Amino acid sequence: MKKSINNLESKLQALLRSQHSHYTQGKVANYIPALEEVKPDLVAVSVATLDGKNVGVGDYQHPFSIQSISKVFGLVMAMNRMGDSLWQRVRMEPSGQPFNSIIQLEWEKGIPRNPVINAGALLISDVLTSHFSASKLAFVCFLRNLAQDENIHVDNEVYQSELAHGNRNAALAYLMKSFGNIEAEISDVLAHYFTQCSVAMSCEQLAQSLLFLANKGLDPISNQRVCSPKDAHRINAILSTSGMYDQSGEFAFTVGLPAKSGVGGGVIAIVPNYGVICTWSPPLNSFGNSVVGMNLIAGIAQELGLSIY
Ligand code: DON
Repeated sequence: MKKSINNLESKLQALLRSQHSHYTQGKVANYIPALEEVKPDLVAVSVATLDGKNVGVGDYQHPFSIQSISKVFGLVMAMNRMGDSLWQRVRMEPSGQPFNSIIQLEWEKGIPRNPVINAGALLISDVLTSHFSASKLAFVCFLRNLAQDENIHVDNEVYQSELAHGNRNAALAYLMKSFGNIEAEISDVLAHYFTQCSVAMSCEQLAQSLLFLANKGLDPISNQRVCSPKDAHRINAILSTSGMYDQSGEFAFTVGLPAKSGVGGGVIAIVPNYGVICTWSPPLNSFGNSVVGMNLIAGIAQELGLSIY
């Protein structure tokens, strides 16, 4: 049973104090120079609930690179455009491989295991590039609308860095194209994907933007229908089995919430019929998940009794 949100701010402060020092156990992502420059001791938590409250502690208004959390938003947009035919081009199974692995993609003839590993997100980027006349702008506008903040933008330094170090993602896209599963030009697909990853948002904004997934597809703040109840269910299912990459099983085992991480150090967790938790702490563990972020979400889920299982 979920506990009340009373005193949530002081509970979050206490958790932050007890977990913060563990940031030294992780490493800030260094595969692109722009991410490596972020201060490792920044830390934040926001909890947004369906009744419109949004409680944050630490650096919760500090924008950071959303990276793979963007895969959730891209997926919603592609599901809305493609309907059920999307699932002929990408599957909904855990991969059991690192997020940027290429091995499985050849065995499985260019059909990515799921939309939240890199191959799957590139496939989604192809769908968006092919279905929107200006997919990058459409993506940023989608986020601005959900967060109700016109200032949300793409961090150009991160974007340029991604582009300059994007050979593995290019390889994934070319391999899929060789199997006939990419329609657009590879350079356009990569430009869309790197744009998504390079959007900067705060914990407060991310928590608010994802409330629709806790509310059967309906944004409780604006009352807009973002996706159908069936698609909200499907996205939460994919996040439960694959959102924390190769650590998704352990996260389900210990925490029990649909979640998604990004190499910028953000983690979002959806609490159906309740709200969204977003954490940020840049140092990552060997799976690419934020060390402190995972601990914080585990602590909040336990304190408030939020597991869905
Ligand atoms: O594909 C990449 O290399 C990154 N821009 C995104 C990776 C990411 O966040 C994967 N996550 N944990």
